[in-house]
Amino acid sequence: MVRQGKATVLVGSQWGDEGKGRITDMLAENADVVARFSGGPNAGHTVIVGDEKYELHLIPSGILHPEKQNIIGNGTVVYPPAIVKELEGLKNRGIQTHNLFLSENAHVIMPYHLQLDRLEEERKGDDSIGTTKKGIGPTYTDKVARRGIRIGDMLDLAFFTEKVDENLAYANAYIQHNFPEEPLLTTNDIVEEYKPLIEVLRPHVADTSLMLDQARKEGKVILFEGAQGTLLDLDHGTYPFVTSSNPTAGAVCTGCGFGPAHIDEVIGIIKAYTTRVGHGPFPTELEDETGEQLRQKGHEFGVTTQRARRCGWFDIPIMKFAIRVNGLTQLALTKLDVLTGFETIKVCTHYEVNGERIEHLPTNGKLLKDAVPVYKDVPGWTEDLTDVRTFDDLPKAARDYVLMLEEIAEIPISIVSVGPKRVQAVLRTP
Ligand code: IMP
Repeated sequence: MVRQGKATVLVGSQWGDEGKGRITDMLAENADVVARFSGGPNAGHTVIVGDEKYELHLIPSGILHPEKQNIIGNGTVVYPPAIVKELEGLKNRGIQTHNLFLSENAHVIMPYHLQLDRLEEERKGDDSIGTTKKGIGPTYTDKVARRGIRIGDMLDLAFFTEKVDENLAYANAYIQHNFPEEPLLTTNDIVEEYKPLIEVLRPHVADTSLMLDQARKEGKVILFEGAQGTLLDLDHGTYPFVTSSNPTAGAVCTGCGFGPAHIDEVIGIIKAYTTRVGHGPFPTELEDETGEQLRQKGHEFGVTTQRARRCGWFDIPIMKFAIRVNGLTQLALTKLDVLTGFETIKVCTHYEVNGERIEHLPTNGKLLKDAVPVYKDVPGWTEDLTDVRTFDDLPKAARDYVLMLEEIAEIPISIVSVGPKRVQAVLRTP
């Protein structure tokens, strides 16, 4: 069984899209509280319950479990039109949403942040990051520059209007100077758009750090749901081709106001192969028929942007890197079923850079770009795995694949998922 402590963190171990929403949904069953700590609507989590498919961007996947508290922590960035749409979409499908709590200190994505994200990406042309264009980078930029607008600031309309006015003047001066053709927004447009949304959000706004502390003291089970992935981390990822927040486990503490000593388990979600959306280095990428096969079989198209994901083989230095920087205590290996039908599966064991053997993931962008993956071939299997529910029922080659990765990881692979539905998973005894 999965070791689920009183406070468990789930993080993506690659470049995002590892299936975090699906694993959170499974573990949320045993949790009382599910909390998001970083990122914003750039995330896209698909959860399938019965015949229903839910696509969530900012609201924690725990919302699908009635009576659980769902928290959006201070480390996140919130786009009011999107979260209200998500809330209304859930309500229309009969999902209760009164248990959603939004930190008053989370930063607000403003329309000019979306505008700036788009304009900067267009300006960079071939050197663009390939962002989701959800305004993430510009919102975190304003936060770090100490001029951002927080959820709590929106609750007093006069104060909010003042802050929008100040910030918009700043954004518009920059836009006018660099993009003279671009139409400019007005304070009135923004305030009028946000006014009704603020009223929808108002009852959900709370001091979420206090709530988490109370939950902890009451012995409740808390699950922290990561977004994006380790290699998109602003500090540890493939900079500058990263997101503007920290999706790694340490961000739970800063992004929720929750102390590190209270965290019991850190589970890394890792796909049985590798994918990436957006630009930047990706050593095991397959730009051939095999890559296309992985994309089609794994339905590797973005939930948020519908972009085709870049696909490649499993990369062991990435797994070891994720174990190190997150302090992972367990792994959940997802989408093993997608590897069915490959006669031989390749696994990158290390890299060669300028003829030199490198065992660890180089964090220097230039080195990583030049890293040539060195592969080990392992036998594939032909059996469909989607109905398998116990480890012993997996074909031997699939078991061997998992055991090989587990031996190298030196931490248990306690969940193996074999399909997108809640039940399509093999839980192992560590
Ligand atoms: P941003 O977060 O929109 O600024 O995008 C920065 C980089 O992170 C781009 O390469 C995006 O494709 C990537 N990214 C952001 N969110 C996700 C996600 O949830 N899954 C996968 N990639 C993401």
